[in-house]
Parts: sequence; structure tokens; C-alpha cells
Amino acid sequence: MLTIVGNGAIGNLLALQCHHLQFDYRIVVRNQSPSEIRCQTVHQQEILRPVYQRSSDTIEQGLFILPLKAYQIIPAIGQFKSQLSAEVPLVLLHNGMVDHAQILELLPNNPILVATTSYGAFKPQYDGLNVTGIGATQAGWLRNSDDNLGYQQVFEKLLPPCSWHKDILQILWRKLAVNSVINPLTAIHNVANGELAKQPYRSTIMGVTKEISTLMNAVNLAVTQQELFANCMAIIEKTAGNYSSMHQDVQYKRKTEIENISGYVVSQGKQLSIPVPFNNELFEQVKKIETYYL
Ligand code: PAF
Repeated sequence: MLTIVGNGAIGNLLALQCHHLQFDYRIVVRNQSPSEIRCQTVHQQEILRPVYQRSSDTIEQGLFILPLKAYQIIPAIGQFKSQLSAEVPLVLLHNGMVDHAQILELLPNNPILVATTSYGAFKPQYDGLNVTGIGATQAGWLRNSDDNLGYQQVFEKLLPPCSWHKDILQILWRKLAVNSVINPLTAIHNVANGELAKQPYRSTIMGVTKEISTLMNAVNLAVTQQELFANCMAIIEKTAGNYSSMHQDVQYKRKTEIENISGYVVSQGKQLSIPVPFNNELFEQVKKIETYYL
């Protein structure tokens, strides 16, 4: 059994994959949710009839997946903590960074898997799911136990291809660099990802990636600014037609993940006494935009 928390775009995509793979799953929801979801995937249109359970219902053994906004992760763990037995492996699937030390303390025994995916999906309406791109997934254990290979084999089928990493922090920081460039810039300038390939954005992208490579080196993660810059430019090109998640959050006047993206970089800069003015500027600008509607 797989338990998926929330019916956001990635939650619904996971449910659709479970349906295709004939995996037994439940989506945990708080409110009335659509009995049918019209899915437009890259190859076809189909109707998914999701299997739901209420947040107060018993959580079965098996993967417990949190495909949530970064700022929802810790509150959700706090909420479900007493319903989770110690063997249930959690999967954290989100953009940006969350406080891992706090999660390990909240759940002192559970295996915890962290993953990041470049699948593109959004909900055009309440009962719709559009999958805009087949991506790839990178995963690693924050806390493992010996008998988790079976779970690993299940997880890697959900958003394939999935690669496994011993040093998942390296992967998360590299993804953080991508999000720190693309998300605030597309939200502030109201542009699709591909616009960022143009010359006027170059110096900001250089500055943001330079600051993040300095922070990474300070916490013993090997990387160069050139690598981070080249990776950001490659993803800008690959996702040129897409609107980033933060761009969409601003357009729909939703809370953004800026605290867990640029905000995380700023807080690490403070902690390590490393100035991060480029990231700070993007953080301030998105916070300012949010104050107009939140
Ligand atoms: O948040 C997003 O939109 C995505 O993580 C990414 C990679 C920036 C592409 O749009």
C-alpha cells in the first residue's frame, strides 16, 4: 500500500502512476475531492478515479509519500506523527530545503527517503491534471534501515528514471541552485523559463550560482560555480516553454516556496557568515510581491 498525502499536481500524478502499475494506493485528503480527474499526459487523455482516505483514517504499512509544498512538510509530519508506526518509510518530495534535523527529531525511528523530480505537472482546474513533461527523479535515504530495498524498488517505478544517491545533500543543493535561479526570476519578471536564457539575466544567474557554490563548499560539498551555472542554463533550455511553480503561485496569488528556496540560502549565508546579496535581493523582491495579495 502507498499512502499519498494531498491531491496536488504531483500527488495526483503519483496516483495515476499507481493506477497504471496496479499498485494499491490511497490519497489522504482533508476536504471533498473530485471523484474523477481528467488527466492530460504527454501521450494520452484518460480519466482517473482516485482512491481517497480521510486524514483521521488508519495509515497502512507501506510508503508514506509527502508530495507537498516545502512549507507544508513539517506541519504535515506533526499532524500524522501519532498515526505512523515506526517502520513506515516516509518519502519527502518537494522543491527547496526543509529542516532535516527537525524531521529526524520529530520521527526518531522511521526510515526517511528524500527525492527530487523534474516531472512537470499542474492542475488546470480542480478536477484536472496536465503532465507537461516526463522528467527524471533523484533519490536517497536520509535515514535507512536494512530491509528497505523492496520499498526502494517500488518508489523507483513511480517517477522513472530514478537514480539513487548516497550523498543526497549534494543533489538537493544542486536542485536548490536551479530553483533559486528559475523560480524567483520567472515570478518577478512574469516570464516563462526560457526567457532567462537572454543576456539581461546572465549577471544575476552568475551571482546567484556563485553564492550557492561558495555556501556548498563551506559545508564540504564539492562543486564549482561553472557547474551550477551550466546546469541552470541546461534546465532553462530544457523547460523553456514551462512556467515555473513559483510563477504559477504568484499568478494564482498563492503562498510561494520562497522561504524554502532563496530564504534558505539567505539563512545559510547568515549562519556561515557568507554574504549572499544576489539571493537576498531575489528573496526580498518575491516577499514584496507576496505582500500585495497574501
Ligand atoms: O519549480 C519548478 O518549476 C521546477 O522545479 C523547475 C525545475 C524550476 C522548472 O520549472
